[in-house]
Amino acid sequence: MSISVIKEKLGRIKVGKVLDVATGDGWFARELVRSFASFDGLIGIDTEQRAIDAALKATEAEAKEGVSDAGKFHFLKMSAEEMTLPDKAFDVAGIANSLHHFSNPQKVLREMRRVVRPRGLVVVLEMFSDGLTPAQQSHDKLHRFAAKLDRLDGRVHHDTFTRGRVIGLLDKVEFPAIESHTWIPPRSREHQGHDLPDRIEEVWIKRLSHYKERDEYVALKKELEEILNHILERGFAPAPTVVAFCRC
Ligand SMILES: C[S@@+](CC[C@H](N)C(=O)[O-])C[C@H]1O[C@@H](n2cnc3c(N)ncnc32)[C@H](O)[C@@H]1O
Repeated sequence: MSISVIKEKLGRIKVGKVLDVATGDGWFARELVRSFASFDGLIGIDTEQRAIDAALKATEAEAKEGVSDAGKFHFLKMSAEEMTLPDKAFDVAGIANSLHHFSNPQKVLREMRRVVRPRGLVVVLEMFSDGLTPAQQSHDKLHRFAAKLDRLDGRVHHDTFTRGRVIGLLDKVEFPAIESHTWIPPRSREHQGHDLPDRIEEVWIKRLSHYKERDEYVALKKELEEILNHILERGFAPAPTVVAFCRC
């Protein structure tokens, strides 16, 4: 999969160092650098060791298929809110689907601006929650449910923001220029099988079973049933994503 809007914008550019913030399994890190004509190296950061392990594994697997050069990728355990990285060290910093995972997303964006050189780029991808079709609302409802479960486990995970809220966060960081687009992800990636009601039911009922002893269980089960009914009646489609290019 390629993120067409990024490829169109950056496809002819040769860059040096690239940073991917809240990298997870490194999906966006690999997508981002593949968009450039060339790059020297990438650092991906995440607070979770299991994310770092998954990113290393996925990057090595792609390297074996000849898709990426694993030697150029480095993954570090580090908080996005307090990066131990020098000022102006990167040409480009990216972040995908993670702003709603922070207690202070603006602080993260300011950190990204700090570590990118003047006239470098911050690239932001963030799924948004307004103006959705009924099928896209299925994705949003499932995401809200996932965020609620994460919050019960004590993790920071907000509902996704409106498109205006994402742009408002970027505006507050006062980048010299911001260009934004809307991108509809294909069904294939994180929604594997999400358009198959049986598969969704299996995955989510299993996940909910971990909360059987909680006071909230009955209400959560009812909420999940309502979401599954919505999916059966209205279908499932990935929610749209804002893609913003912010000049530093
Ligand atoms: C939804 S995942 C996004 C992963 C990846 N960017 C993608 O699009 O596939 C959110 C990631 O943010 C990470 N995360 C949450 N809080 C963080 C923080 N303060 N600093 C760095 N990473 C953080 C989580 O561990 C998780 O891997």
